[in-house]
Amino acid sequence: MGFGRFSGADHDTRQTPSSGQGVVAKRTYDIVLWGATGATGRRAAHHLARRCAESGVALAIGGRNRGKLEHVRDGLAGRAGEIAILVGDSFDTAFMDEMSAQTRVVVSTVGPFAVYGSALVAACVANGTHYCDLTGEPQWMREMIDTHQDQARETGARIVHACGHDSIPSDLGVQLLQAKALDHCGQPCRRITTRVTRMKGGFSGGTAGSFLNAMRLRETDPDFDHLSADPYALCPTGEREGPDGPDRMMPLEVTWDADLQAWAYPYFMGPMNSKVVRRSNAVMGYPYGRDFRYTETALSRGGVGGWLAAMRKTLFGKLFLIAMAIPATRGLLERHVLPKSGEGPSKEVRESGSYEIIQVGTLRDGTVLKQRITGQGDPGVRSTTMMLTEAALCLAEDEIAVGGGFWTPASAMGPLLLARITAHAGLSFEIIAGRGA
Ligand SMILES: NC(=O)c1ccc[n+]([C@@H]2O[C@H](COP(=O)([O-])OP(=O)(O)OC[C@H]3O[C@@H](n4cnc5c(N)ncnc54)[C@H](OP(=O)(O)O)[C@@H]3O)[C@@H](O)[C@H]2O)c1
Repeated sequence: MGFGRFSGADHDTRQTPSSGQGVVAKRTYDIVLWGATGATGRRAAHHLARRCAESGVALAIGGRNRGKLEHVRDGLAGRAGEIAILVGDSFDTAFMDEMSAQTRVVVSTVGPFAVYGSALVAACVANGTHYCDLTGEPQWMREMIDTHQDQARETGARIVHACGHDSIPSDLGVQLLQAKALDHCGQPCRRITTRVTRMKGGFSGGTAGSFLNAMRLRETDPDFDHLSADPYALCPTGEREGPDGPDRMMPLEVTWDADLQAWAYPYFMGPMNSKVVRRSNAVMGYPYGRDFRYTETALSRGGVGGWLAAMRKTLFGKLFLIAMAIPATRGLLERHVLPKSGEGPSKEVRESGSYEIIQVGTLRDGTVLKQRITGQGDPGVRSTTMMLTEAALCLAEDEIAVGGGFWTPASAMGPLLLARITAHAGLSFEIIAGRGA
């Protein structure tokens, strides 16, 4: 089965040849988890401690508060006593440099990344240290690519943003569906539509913080809305054109999906995940075709009830967005409604949560393939941190085909990460209609 090419066809995708662990083979640690005390960081620490103990990977945890870090370490399974603690601040560039020079991989949960993440990415790039994170902030990702791409190619640092629920299921799902289309039909899907059909869980304080920060940035950055709307905003320079129209944040729009016989409505993270999928296609050298089209929304049911439910959620989303855009109501939501840093869904919600995504691929001849993706655990924290953990282990342990640079989950790790998240992070991918079902 082919998973797409890892070619460096354009100037943004030149690769520094570097196989396996490449230039960062000898370091004190294999992985440093930066931000182990936050809502996602604590969960990531648990998964990483267990998985690293299984495979003999040397792990350190880091953050700004030694007491909190010791408390986290004391609760870890595996060889917790062997896990080192690194204490510093995200704004301390000398510490960021020292920390990233000691490890082969840094995995970060310290967000909003546009606030706390830049010095760490710069340090990882300078030291040839591989890096993955949970950012869903395309403006910041664009800034990091523009600032550090050339140096990352030189040092061999593989930088992979968006390694949580945003955007791994969408990105790897598209890559897998395209591989299946090629296998069974001899051609890639010209269009793929991702529908989030079920999301059961909660979200953490850091997610709220990132959203609040984005709404504030929007007021001061004249390019913010332009980049948000640009469907190809994360594609390489000179490659920012294609058939998709603008990404719209929560339009008041409910549409009928004839393939799935249900009403589709806007999904908050759809525009961000779509940009990542399009970047994957571009940096891999267009294995999905230059005319490939992609959209991502949520899906309700059919009938009048389904339409009403979709309309209610659309209106709620729009009102929430308006309230977040107005400083006075945003302040009220921040103080009284949204979770604070360190807070997140309860253990019961994390463990009983789940999600389902259906991807519909349409080939040139009209053939339709459908793929179901399911995830166990709430998407915002449990599933996200298991995927992030596997991405960090993949960067540390697997023979990755691409060299240094800014990649996406699919373009950097593709089938290697897919195998990991299906075996260890509770995800499943299954063709449910079309050839190969
Ligand atoms: N992609 C996805 O699907 C997804 C899902 C969930 C979350 N996220 C993103 O992940 C990020 C983290 O979310 P979260 O809920 O875990 O956030 P959180 O609970 O607020 O945790 C933030 C972490 O950053 C640390 N920190 C803050 N300022 C620091 C500084 N100056 N120096 C060093 N460490 C610092 C905090 O340390 P203290 O404990 O000492 O305060 C804490 O460990 C957010 O950006 C969120 O948007 C993405």
